[in-house]
Amino acid sequence: MNLDELKSVANAIVARQKGVLAADESSPTIKKRFDSIQVESTEENRRRYREILFTADGIERYVGGVILFDETLRQCTREGVPFPKLLAGRGIIPGIKVDQGAKALALCPGDKVTEGLDGLRERLAEYKQLGAQFAKWRAVIEIDERDLPSAFGIRANAHALARYAALCQEAGLVPIVEPEVLMDGAHGIERCEVVTAQVLQAVFAELDFHRVQFEGMLLKPNMVIAGKKSVQQAGVQAVAETTIRCLKRYVPAAVPGIVFLSGGQSAEDATDHLNAMNAMGAHPWQVSFSYGRALQAPVLAAWRGQEIHVAAAQRALLKRCRLNGLARDGQYVRAMEEAA
Ligand code: 13P
Repeated sequence: MNLDELKSVANAIVARQKGVLAADESSPTIKKRFDSIQVESTEENRRRYREILFTADGIERYVGGVILFDETLRQCTREGVPFPKLLAGRGIIPGIKVDQGAKALALCPGDKVTEGLDGLRERLAEYKQLGAQFAKWRAVIEIDERDLPSAFGIRANAHALARYAALCQEAGLVPIVEPEVLMDGAHGIERCEVVTAQVLQAVFAELDFHRVQFEGMLLKPNMVIAGKKSVQQAGVQAVAETTIRCLKRYVPAAVPGIVFLSGGQSAEDATDHLNAMNAMGAHPWQVSFSYGRALQAPVLAAWRGQEIHVAAAQRALLKRCRLNGLARDGQYVRAMEEAA
């Protein structure tokens, strides 16, 4: 492992105005997204859709990295240029999702643990050959009314994240460490803060035990936010302040960047929250985005699988990237949604 190289990749991903486009939907997830716009999930449609994303004019100003799925890392543009090569040529760093999904954790009803460690060293070596410079692994933590997540569920996920991160650094790939506390459920923002704190505390303790170098990784957490079914939704400022407070307590300053997931927030809310956090002033780490749905929902809605809508779809992507780029500096206001 060359720590200087890891650091420079991590820093480039969260350079000024920049964040991450998460386009790493697994085959079942992209099928769900395509179903919502009545597009069949064939290999060619998936390829074409990703090509529309990756060739959109101007996004390289705001997108430092793109997370790809295994199939996409191996696909090419119409002209035969492999996607990782296309992205790298535009100054966008290609990354790869390497987890194999969350499964029920044995003997812990309701908890899940993410699989994919077996054979990971060999897969990482191949991904590196194919052009990936960073990786992603997502742990899923669900909150319920009473006993979820269990303390052991948190520990098992933190352990898997740390083993993954250590393997990535060994292979010379920057690990994006993603412990996602889900926003499903009726819990308030207070409960989300307590659980997020427990999760981050456990994750950084395990990363440290596993000798992961914090300077050569990125953290992809949830924002601290009320559950979707909660009757008491916190305001934008409260979400920003609670999230930053929680992260400052548990995320070492050596971590170069925090790239939030959107987790089911609307595109506008995700941008608003990111903006409010950056408007609070300088933080120990870069505070940026690694959005999937919050960048892509407007693109899918504009495209609807039709070639005549490709330009509109690409404009929709550029708009979201640009507004999130402004939110990186605390320069976004909602009125820009209409103007843009
Ligand atoms: P969302 O922004 O849609 O939550 O997706 C981000 C992601 O990569 C989840 O793993």
